[in-house]
Amino acid sequence: MAVLEQLTSQQAIDLENEYGAHNYHPLPVVLTKGEGVYVWDVEGKQYFDFLSAYSAVNQGHCHPKIVGAMVEQAQKLTLTSRAFYNDMLGKYEKFACEFFGFDKLLPMNTGAEAVETALKICRKWAYEVKGIDENEAEIVVCKNNFHGRTTTIISFSNDPVARKNFGPYTNGFIKIDYDDLEALEKAFKNNPNVAGFLVEPIQGEAGVYVPTEGYLAKAKALCEKYNVLFIADEVQTGIARTGKLLAVHHENVTPDVLILGKAISGGVYPVSAVLANNNVMNVIKPGNHGSTFGGNPVAAAVAIAALEVVKDEKLAENAEVLGELFRAEINKYIKNSNIVNLVRGKGLLNAIVINDDEDSDTAWNICLALRDNGLLAKPTHGNIIRFAPPLVMNEAQLCKCVAIIVKTLKDFE
Ligand SMILES: Cc1ncc(COP(=O)(O)O)c(C=O)c1O
Repeated sequence: MAVLEQLTSQQAIDLENEYGAHNYHPLPVVLTKGEGVYVWDVEGKQYFDFLSAYSAVNQGHCHPKIVGAMVEQAQKLTLTSRAFYNDMLGKYEKFACEFFGFDKLLPMNTGAEAVETALKICRKWAYEVKGIDENEAEIVVCKNNFHGRTTTIISFSNDPVARKNFGPYTNGFIKIDYDDLEALEKAFKNNPNVAGFLVEPIQGEAGVYVPTEGYLAKAKALCEKYNVLFIADEVQTGIARTGKLLAVHHENVTPDVLILGKAISGGVYPVSAVLANNNVMNVIKPGNHGSTFGGNPVAAAVAIAALEVVKDEKLAENAEVLGELFRAEINKYIKNSNIVNLVRGKGLLNAIVINDDEDSDTAWNICLALRDNGLLAKPTHGNIIRFAPPLVMNEAQLCKCVAIIVKTLKDFE
């Protein structure tokens, strides 16, 4: 089969099934093109993308400014490794540090790598600054978290599918309920070995769980009281998705360690980053940590362009306004619905909860019907569907999408 031959959807699915590891269960739709809020399948059908590659494509598919920056840089210099300096990394680090308000950035490629990086920084800070005895540091995490797929990260997951038969697991994590300040203080109190609190400002993969207002600010205050690093995993919630540049900004919180991925490149290239101030980041010395591709010139050029788009096109403001509209419209429908219990979220990170069991296939079947009606979304659980369109969507497009969603749900009543 020639690489350039145009495949049918079925041919593409069959190839993945035969030659690819079965580590995902994709919705059966085969995409070949994307532009802004739209994607097209190989048969030419157009869809609204209501997932945005799990909030990576916040700036819209194939944003010309971001793609242009990538092409221009790719024709000049792609990779040097960090064995040598390149003339893009420093520019990007300065730009991103000023953009987010931190002293220093450590560049990586994927979200999970950035989480790993943050955990390593936190442990080193624990021993070298806080003065915890070696190998005794503990990091508090939340139940139902999702921080990625590495061995250490799944060690503190409580998703049996992500964990089972991948042990032995990494020690040093204390798991508490999400959105529970009492549990957090209990974990900190009388335990001088606690070094960090790793938290998603909204639990995305768990089903878009928004914590009680004030939770993040009070959690940060507890971290300060007990000299514990507040580590915000904004891989999914960050970069304008929830209606602010960062989701922690809804509560005026500045994390000690900030983890970013996904939309820092607009979904154009794998880029992730950890940001912190010097008192924390300076524990990292040459040889402690790294990545061949982390901080490469293409990633640097792409990330600068992607962040400029967020600011220039006021994507946070747009997400805030359209998010309110989306929830208001879906709530109107829910009043008379037997099938949807509620809609929740912030900005354009939302989910609906279907009136069925956690392990039912109703959400999946609704997503198949949404696909047939021209909109792509994916369940996070058997009864929860996440709705996260690109943030370049306009009001007219959003209203069209709401109409598709409501019509589809009505067919399931
Ligand atoms: C909050 C959070 N952290 C980390 C990750 C992992 O990112 P990646 O898939 O790029 O490794 C994700 C991915 O969905 C995420 O939502």
